[in-house]
Amino acid sequence: MEEQVKKKVILSGIQPTGVFTLGNYIGAVQNWGKMQEEFECAYFIADLHSLTVRQDPSVLKKRALDAFALLLACGIDPEKSLVFIQSHVNTHAELGWLLSCYTQFGELSRMTQFKDKSAAHADNINAGLFTYPVLMAADILLYQADMVPVGADQKQHLEFTRDIATRFNNIYGNVFKIPEPYISKSGARIMSLQDPLKKMSKSDANLNGFVSILDEPNVIMNKFKRAVTDSETEVVFREGKDGINNLMTIYSCMTGLTMEQIEKDFEGKGYGDFKIAVGESVVEKLRPIRENFDRLSKDKKYLEECYTKGAELAQRVSSRTLNKAKKKVGLLVK
Ligand code: TRP
Repeated sequence: MEEQVKKKVILSGIQPTGVFTLGNYIGAVQNWGKMQEEFECAYFIADLHSLTVRQDPSVLKKRALDAFALLLACGIDPEKSLVFIQSHVNTHAELGWLLSCYTQFGELSRMTQFKDKSAAHADNINAGLFTYPVLMAADILLYQADMVPVGADQKQHLEFTRDIATRFNNIYGNVFKIPEPYISKSGARIMSLQDPLKKMSKSDANLNGFVSILDEPNVIMNKFKRAVTDSETEVVFREGKDGINNLMTIYSCMTGLTMEQIEKDFEGKGYGDFKIAVGESVVEKLRPIRENFDRLSKDKKYLEECYTKGAELAQRVSSRTLNKAKKKVGLLVK
């Protein structure tokens, strides 16, 4: 009999802290869409994680729904992938508690994101901020994920997830799959258009530094025309040309062209022409996403149907792992 090859499970989450940037799209969400064919994918809106920083309740609620619609608009297909909102699935917080009892104060104290965030929010160093990585470990382990695509800033949290899963398995036998980091082939890190040494961020005070994936075409074009470059004139990918390197990376991700092809196409042309070409490639790529989003966000009923189905399936799948873990530690499972 032919044996069916089981697809590997990929899982990732994104916080609903505002409209995704072009950086989030290229660095994460675009690849999430592509991976749906090859893998069994689970993607979710990490709204519980957002509570570690004070939020305006009505804004958070809207952002969670918008972020969910954005995932769909970017090509995450709820028929192919498991898509849900974290707070709709109570197993996450529950496994989080369990795992927190197998986590040492010392190891959470060493997390660089905790140190950075507690310095940035010195007036609100809450316990959730401290145990953030434990909830993230629960997110991942509940679905027995083989691989987790994460950026550099989340690597340490994934390492922590592996440590805690290994520790738990060493005591209780095989309960959790040990997840690997998934490094995407493009793996592009998109930098600010105004300061190409800084990562592109939606919280940048300089609005010209980032492109939101819902920006209008003229706004996108203006941001690219104003992008910081250097005092040379050649479009070549070379160390030290951080602004041009960033624009070339964006252009390459939008068009699929290699750096060599781009260099050749723009030989003898100036930065002005190049910036316009990059801007136009981004406008064209984002146009259908903006249109999809406009359509989807008007269809609240469809969105509700999708996240309800997603939550039900996520609840079912994750409960298996949670119940296994509960039994192992000696809780009386009903
Ligand atoms: N902490 C991640 C971030 O801020 C979001 C996240 C939460 C996540 N849970 C996850 C990512 C599980 C991957 C897997 O980017």
